[in-house]
Amino acid sequence: MTQTNKRILSGITPSGSSLHIGNYFGAVKPQLELQNTAETYYFMADLHALTTIHDKETLEKNITGVVLDYIALGLDPAKSVFFRQSDVPAHSQLMVVLGNYVMYGQMQRMHAFKDKLQKDANEESINMGLFNYPILMAADILLYKPYGVPVGEDQRQHIELTRDIAENFNKAYQTDVFPLPEPLISKEVGKVVGTDGQRKMSKSLGNTIGIFEDEAVIRKQIMSSFTDPNRKKATDPGTVEGNPVFIYHELLNDNASEVEELKTRYRAGKVGDVEVKEKLFQAHQRYFASARAKRKELESNLEVARDILADGALRAGKLATETLEEVYRTIGIRNQLNNK
Ligand code: TYM
Repeated sequence: MTQTNKRILSGITPSGSSLHIGNYFGAVKPQLELQNTAETYYFMADLHALTTIHDKETLEKNITGVVLDYIALGLDPAKSVFFRQSDVPAHSQLMVVLGNYVMYGQMQRMHAFKDKLQKDANEESINMGLFNYPILMAADILLYKPYGVPVGEDQRQHIELTRDIAENFNKAYQTDVFPLPEPLISKEVGKVVGTDGQRKMSKSLGNTIGIFEDEAVIRKQIMSSFTDPNRKKATDPGTVEGNPVFIYHELLNDNASEVEELKTRYRAGKVGDVEVKEKLFQAHQRYFASARAKRKELESNLEVARDILADGALRAGKLATETLEEVYRTIGIRNQLNNK
């Protein structure tokens, strides 16, 4: 199997039960757009979720939730291969091989590990799944020899590590088995800010705006968002640039003249935060109306999602097994898989 200039791969971890607008604009929307021009492989990284979720019911709920979200948002099984990581054993098998071409020192510099260490300041509380996570991610990617990996900014370091591992492997065997994948990260929306106005939107930070939650939940998330911290009352002139509520308006509000008018009034101290947020809530409901309706429909017929994943597992498995065979041959493991 060779790298095609058009093959794209990406994944998502079901660490929560549904996606937020940061996931959507930073990753899912660009991924879905690529369905029309590229050969696309997208997967649910269920094994990755074990780094944080050790409750069976929660894990199952999250996996189903995120699968339905993806399909409702526009994943088209006629255009994309959509599958579950655990359905393709080659991911775990290649990970075992790849760990030998990356050094412990480099792994210690990975953000996910360093952030956790900073938070807990205790190596005893970091499981090896989290430490090794970027190696599994490298296996996820390299199995498919993609040209590009569309993700948000927070995944850049993982793709760089993947490139390093691929280079180390190729060099060790004087081969070009692994083409180096490109990170495809949007400058504008690769890092959507959270409602705290400080950090990246992230489920674990509790600063998200959801997509499929009940209206009351979404409204509350929007209403509690930070705006301009220097503006004390509605008659104070406010700053629009970098203000999370206006960033979200730019993303969600299809009524451009309404957004311009709100900005003008905000700068002049002629509109209150509540009105700006209420209009944002309405824009959110318009933007995701059809996805939300489709999600409801899918919930009542889970067979549709099951069939998509079953077909995806077969198609992804074929490609992945080919690469694994090639890797085994390259490193000198002749077994039942490749001893033909
Ligand atoms: P995950 O599940 O944390 O996030 C899914 C995707 O959403 C992007 N994202 C964001 N983009 C912009 N702004 C934000 N606030 C924001 N929050 C999340 C992420 O960058 C990601 O693209 N390790 C990956 C999953 C994975 C994977 C892979 C991805 C596993 N194997 C192989 C690509 C290739 C993760 O946990 O993403």
